[in-house]
Amino acid sequence: MSSNHSTRREFIRNGLVAGEVAAMALWMSQGASIASAQDLLISKRTDGTPYKLGILGCGNRCKAHVAALNDVPEIEIAALCDLLPHKMDQRAKQIKKKSNPPPQKYTEMDKMLQQQDLDAIAIVLPNYLHKNAAIAAFQAGKHIFCEKPMAMTVADCNEIIAAGERARKAIQIGTQRRHSKGYKAAVEAIRNAPVGKILGSAVNSYRGDWREPDADEYPPGVQYWRLNQDQSGGVVYEMGAHIIDVNNWIFDSEPVTVASLQGINDTALRKRDSMDHGSVLVRYANGALMNYGGNVYTSGPAANDYYFAVNGTIAIDEGKLLEITYGNPTGVPAKGESPPSPLKLELRAGDGTGDQWKHFAKVLAGEAEPYPNGHSGRQSIQICQGALVSARERTIVNVKDLG
Ligand SMILES: NC(=O)c1ccc[n+]([C@@H]2O[C@H](COP(=O)([O-])OP(=O)(O)OC[C@H]3O[C@@H](n4cnc5c(N)ncnc54)[C@H](O)[C@@H]3O)[C@@H](O)[C@H]2O)c1
Repeated sequence: MSSNHSTRREFIRNGLVAGEVAAMALWMSQGASIASAQDLLISKRTDGTPYKLGILGCGNRCKAHVAALNDVPEIEIAALCDLLPHKMDQRAKQIKKKSNPPPQKYTEMDKMLQQQDLDAIAIVLPNYLHKNAAIAAFQAGKHIFCEKPMAMTVADCNEIIAAGERARKAIQIGTQRRHSKGYKAAVEAIRNAPVGKILGSAVNSYRGDWREPDADEYPPGVQYWRLNQDQSGGVVYEMGAHIIDVNNWIFDSEPVTVASLQGINDTALRKRDSMDHGSVLVRYANGALMNYGGNVYTSGPAANDYYFAVNGTIAIDEGKLLEITYGNPTGVPAKGESPPSPLKLELRAGDGTGDQWKHFAKVLAGEAEPYPNGHSGRQSIQICQGALVSARERTIVNVKDLG
């Protein structure tokens, strides 16, 4: 493990400044409260039959999940649920592994949750529906794969985690970059590089606007959920969650304070009340600062994410390329040492969606812990909700006040 990868023990050893002691105590208690694979109620299949999955929400993201699951023999899609029957039909047609019986179709979540043979539920619903669906699925005794963002508030994440602990069932969050070969190689290279402590980052999601739903998806007068602030959380929850999760992974520390400005630029082109641009500044318990920026307008080539360390600068190009360049390894002024050679690493393609399902299959078999787990999902929401409160109230938010 490299010097910039701070474990809990190292954190204690390095000494804490006022305020971080409380964050540390919280970190330890949260980490300890996540159910481990040994604590989970697992019904391991030993007869070679696949685990049965019900998918809640058969929209756009579900398309990618069904495509990925076609290559995961350990999991069979045994039920689909959507308000719109034609969405279920579209997904059912995509399924290559023919099961007998074919997936049951439901327009009501509660009915699907009564299907006894389902081992797990995938929640692929609009963001504001994740919490109730997760709690209901745990109460029905199912393991959960939940799309990002885990929920809309930290309190909701706490409720989900508590329900999972009561049910002794797993929750894995759908931030698939944690399983992307490119990002995994990048993070490993960063951990092993002599960059020293990472002090800050400039990470972003500047991209084009959200897709225009098809006419048959939303009846006239029903607003597309991404354009509604309460239903989506706006740009930070909906797009930022991925980038913030990678930042949390790289910093390997807990967010402590959050400040943000957000707003809506474009109500003329598209009627919306969800924040379409924002910047978020976060102080982590290890002292590092994250700067996140995002909007739904700039659709040029993706900008690099940068991480700034004592001895060098790290650039990540969307999980495709990692570059580390070094300054003077002993700081300023130069002491005659040559900096290490720059590192340029082409990263393997693939966004991690397939590998996250292969991992979830191992969770269902009791062979792996859910990753990323509810704690990681909650950590991103600490930032998303903290940023929203900060932007609305024009204050700096202490994460511990969010619950
Ligand atoms: N991990 C990723 O890269 C990624 C990418 C896109 C979306 N997502 C996440 O996936 C989730 C879904 O996004 P999407 O793009 O598929 O949205 P979408 O609007 O395309 O699909 C949502 C589906 O849910 C259905 N639905 C809505 N309310 C329902 C209810 N009460 N019961 C049953 N079905 C209901 C809708 O009819 C629709 O088919 C969101 O949380 C989003 O943030 C993740």
